[in-house]
Amino acid sequence: MTSSSGGARPRRVNVHDLARARQDRRPITMVTAYDWPTARLADAASVDCVLVGDSVAMVVAGRESTIPATLEQMIYHGEIVCRGVSRALVVVDLPFPLQHLGERSAVEAAARLLKETGCQAVKLEGTAGQAGVIAALVAAGIPVMGHVGLRPQAVHQLGGYCLQRDAEQLAADASAAAAAGAFAVVLECIPRQVAAAITAGLAVPTIGIGAGPDCDGQVLVMHDLVGLSFDRVPRFARRYADGRAAFSAALAAWKADVEAGTFPGPAETLG
Ligand code: KIV
Repeated sequence: MTSSSGGARPRRVNVHDLARARQDRRPITMVTAYDWPTARLADAASVDCVLVGDSVAMVVAGRESTIPATLEQMIYHGEIVCRGVSRALVVVDLPFPLQHLGERSAVEAAARLLKETGCQAVKLEGTAGQAGVIAALVAAGIPVMGHVGLRPQAVHQLGGYCLQRDAEQLAADASAAAAAGAFAVVLECIPRQVAAAITAGLAVPTIGIGAGPDCDGQVLVMHDLVGLSFDRVPRFARRYADGRAAFSAALAAWKADVEAGTFPGPAETLG
């Protein structure tokens, strides 16, 4: 896509493009990024959405859960990612517990994410109980992506990173998010049949992770996709590259060259 002015800058994917993709049955793609180089790579791969997930706390910072991610950290990573993305829709996670502190806190935090990072939308985890917060954000002109099913911010309450099976509750949560104005809803770690039924009944696109192939789109964590995750790689993720092996081999080769006196060689020596 190119801009209407004919310049080289591509047209930004927007929330209506995602609705059209669902209508046209074109699968939506979303991948996480937390830094400038991977944001550039994701954008160059023409994914629809880049998600600055609060999973940054786990896959980048090595924390036990996403709970420690702070608003300042999401702004820091969000701003870096936005500078690397010119085409994809950038979505930044509202970190715990801002969606539970009332509509005003959520609007203030989401507005900071938009103003200080340059992202186009925010994502928030929640049940039907957070529908009022989604409605307040939407009323403020902030596009919201909902996130139901396995909500990693509620991992201690849910008893682990496990399959969510309560079909009635999941459908109610997704419907409430859509009715409140969410432009899309992430379905995480729920049975295929439940995700299919929710997708069929919802007016907005669903983006699945561990929710089977019948969602309108799919999202994966970048580090799982490229093989840079260390632990807790979910069964539903697929590794498309062995990033750890590639990095380790490069590091070992460089160390061996230094120790053998072959790096730096003439090509890397100045003067
Ligand atoms: O934080 C994150 O990366 C996410 C995705 C797993 C959807 O919420």
